Amino acid sequence: MTRIPAPLEACRLIELPKVTDRRGNLTFLEGSRHIPFPIRRVYYLYDVPGGAARGGHAHRRLQQLVIAVSGSFELLLDNGREATTVRLDRAHTGLLIVPMVWRELLNFSSGAVCLVLASRPYEEDDYIRSHRDFVAAVDGAVAARASRAR
Ligand code: TYD
Repeated sequence: MTRIPAPLEACRLIELPKVTDRRGNLTFLEGSRHIPFPIRRVYYLYDVPGGAARGGHAHRRLQQLVIAVSGSFELLLDNGREATTVRLDRAHTGLLIVPMVWRELLNFSSGAVCLVLASRPYEEDDYIRSHRDFVAAVDGAVAARASRAR
C-alpha cells in the first residue's frame, strides 16, 4: 500500500555516532540499528557543478538516508501537499527520506559529496520522474483511502 501523502515530519534528521579524535573524527552507522532499514545499496554524488540540481523525482517504496559527508547542499522535500527545504552540512547528520516524497538536491557547495544509503537495489520502476504524475499518484491514493473509509 502506498502511504500518501507521506508526512514530511517522517523525513527526519538522524544524528549519527561521532567518535571525536585529535587525529580526525569518525562516524559510523549500521543498517536497522542507527537507521530504520537494512542497507541494500550505496551511491554518492560528487563533482557537482555550481548551479546544478540533482534528484527531481519521488520513489514509491525506497527509503534513503542522505548525508553531506563533505561540503553542503539543500534538499527540497515535497509530499504533494506541502514542501520544505533542509540544508545538510555535517558528516554526522543524515536525513531520512521516506517513500512518496518528491526531492530535489540544490545549491551544492564546491567539493560537496552527497552519500546516499538506500533500502533497495536500483529499480527504475520505483521512480516517479514527473512531478505531475507524482501529484496525481498522491491524489489517487488520497481518494482510494477516502473510499475505503466510507
Ligand atoms: P538518478 O537517480 O536519476 O540521479 P539523481 O536523482 O541523483 O539526479 O540516476 C541517474 C542515472 O544513474 C540514471 O540513469 C540511473 C543511474 N543509476 C544507477 O544505475 N544506479 C543507481 O543506484 C542510481 C542511484 C542511479
